[in-house]
Amino acid sequence: MKNKSLISIHDITKVDYDRVLDLAEKFEKNPKQDILNNWVVATLFFEPSTRTRLSFESAASQLGARVIGFSDASTSSVKKGETLKDTILTVSNYSDIIVMRHPREGSARYASEVSPVPIINAGDGANQHPTQCLLDLYSIRKTQKKLDDLHIAFVGDLKYGRTVHSLVQALTNYKTTFHLISPVELKLPSSVKQFIKDKNLEYYQYTEMDQVIPKVDILYMTRIQQERFADPLEYERVKGAYILRENMLSDAKKNLRVMHPLPRVNEITEDVDDNPKAYYFQQAQNGVYVRQALLTIILGEEKKVKS
Ligand code: CP
Repeated sequence: MKNKSLISIHDITKVDYDRVLDLAEKFEKNPKQDILNNWVVATLFFEPSTRTRLSFESAASQLGARVIGFSDASTSSVKKGETLKDTILTVSNYSDIIVMRHPREGSARYASEVSPVPIINAGDGANQHPTQCLLDLYSIRKTQKKLDDLHIAFVGDLKYGRTVHSLVQALTNYKTTFHLISPVELKLPSSVKQFIKDKNLEYYQYTEMDQVIPKVDILYMTRIQQERFADPLEYERVKGAYILRENMLSDAKKNLRVMHPLPRVNEITEDVDDNPKAYYFQQAQNGVYVRQALLTIILGEEKKVKS
């Protein structure tokens, strides 16, 4: 992974997942270490973000790196018509690694092909969100003490949800049983389902959530993403399809944890937040440690990490 871009969860192996997760555990115990003080990290966000951008910036800052970039491309020369290639070539003169979010699928791969410095994909359209995937794996391993032999439910927008696409693909490396809950219009794409079939893993598809909750170890809720719909009427038909309320967790397994990449809109009511099974804010916190691990490994400074 040293000096390499991270664009898709397929760019790395199961051995790499363990390496990142194990290092993230060390950062969780000791997050402030002055080991990246010679490095500059650029964060280029062409699409809104709270968690991914700020957790990367927090991760880098806590390790002593300097951070440059933009959170709104309309304040950059993109507004004047500068191409993605020219932006990347320019920013690579000012930084050692670029974290980029872009609304267009394939843009992160393209950026990595023209960039002289490593690119970390912080989400490209509905395609991939590999760093979210790794923090999700970290959160599952931390709460369940294992990654194999788990029943995992994905709820909501399985068609456009890039966090779902990356995580489903990663979980096919483990003995996962998948429970896929979505409106018919938002089913998991066949191309992603094929990864499950290729590993002969079990999967079940549903349109209702209630009957599934007692069966699973992880309930991974997602937002129906208005911004991904070309047709506003299609969004109106499916918005609010799944709303998790606290009383719906009464028959859940003791070890169940509710995860969500966030932001939520209305798919988890606030009364769930006080239930010990709610894990989405800790999940977001885990993002700092996992991103510290990724920056450190890609920049080749792993040996400096203190336990
Ligand atoms: N999970 C996630 O990608 O959140 P942000 O859009 O706030 O970065």
